[in-house]
Amino acid sequence: MTRKKPSILNKIYALEDLEVHAKKHLPKPVFGYVAGGAERNHTLRNNAEDFANYKFVPNILRNVSERSTKTEIFGRQWDAPFGISPMGVSALAAYRGDIILADAAQKMNIPMVISGSSLIPMEEIIKLAPGTWFQAYLPGEHDKVENLVLRVKKAGFETLVLTVDVAVLAGRENNLRNGFSTPLRPSFSLLYQGLTHPNWSMNTFLKTIFKHGMPHFENFLAERGEPVFSASINRDFGKRSNLNWEHLKQIRKLWDGNLIVKGILNKGDALKAINLGADAIIISNHGGRQLDSAISSIKALENIRPYIKGDCKLFVDSGFRRGTDVIKALALGADFVFIGRPFLYAASIAGIAGVTHAINLLKEEIDRDMALLGVNEIDELGHELLQKY
Ligand SMILES: Cc1cc2nc3c(=O)[nH]c(=O)nc-3n(C[C@H](O)[C@H](O)[C@H](O)COP(=O)(O)O)c2cc1C
Repeated sequence: MTRKKPSILNKIYALEDLEVHAKKHLPKPVFGYVAGGAERNHTLRNNAEDFANYKFVPNILRNVSERSTKTEIFGRQWDAPFGISPMGVSALAAYRGDIILADAAQKMNIPMVISGSSLIPMEEIIKLAPGTWFQAYLPGEHDKVENLVLRVKKAGFETLVLTVDVAVLAGRENNLRNGFSTPLRPSFSLLYQGLTHPNWSMNTFLKTIFKHGMPHFENFLAERGEPVFSASINRDFGKRSNLNWEHLKQIRKLWDGNLIVKGILNKGDALKAINLGADAIIISNHGGRQLDSAISSIKALENIRPYIKGDCKLFVDSGFRRGTDVIKALALGADFVFIGRPFLYAASIAGIAGVTHAINLLKEEIDRDMALLGVNEIDELGHELLQKY
């Protein structure tokens, strides 16, 4: 039986439209947590604005009737040159958020990364969507590193992403202003938000609690973590600021699958990660959510690309919303692009149909833009198609 497409999707013409509807659907603290950046949001804005510095110089009369957006990484062919970034607490924004995202990605044959701050056990997710990747937030403690990596391996993941731009918690004042924290604290204002967003309260929050019990941080360490809603329990992030290159060496020894380092913004760190055996790096400023005024990802990509030789793949995320954004990164030498918030908004307003719709929109944009650039294959996207001014 095919389910009817949710009518809200008839109003979604581009990924940017998703945010408008998610803002209405989600309680203010949850929406603010997803949408927000750090401090003055400089990086959040620069991520979006810096794409405008690169313009296209298209080719004509090339017979582009046989185009394909298929892209190969790690020996597997994906249907599009983009995937879904890891996003913590997704199951609070969308009912079974991590599973919805992983399932949609699997159906559409694009990669999806589940977050170390996710609320559904990794074993459950990988069972449903076997190609899913896992992202770890690790404290700088060798025993905790080892135990988590062994759990990820045992669960059957083939690709591990280590996020490295979170030495401490970021300054996200919007969370403080909106009353968002992990765990969420009961308060009158939260109750008011719940009452004024009944669709989210019934179909995401209460449905989760009635059907699955109180969600916990399931994948932060080898053992189950804290609940997502509590008046008194504090989250233990471990010795995050201790994490250093020695831990990357340790992980490389323990992990024989694909190892990706996420959150690199300069060439020295990129080269170090490659020397220590990373199979890919993700150039990322965490969607503008960590160090405010950090360089935009597209600019960092331009800086780093010339120094990366050999087999290590270069991925990028933060601020990508359009087919043209993705193509600019590929033309600057990225091998793949990841996108976060829009897919979570899509899951929150329309579940798996929403995420599928969003993936299709972006894929269609890339396909159309390739035709207008005179290009048939992703591999043909190169520097000569861009001019910077
Ligand atoms: C709600 C939310 C939660 C996130 N949680 C994580 C996380 O758990 N681990 C991680 O490495 N990055 C996390 N990120 C950062 C994303 O992986 C990604 O770098 C960023 O969202 C990309 O930018 P974009 O949302 O503008 O596409 C999160 C981002 C958002 C929006």
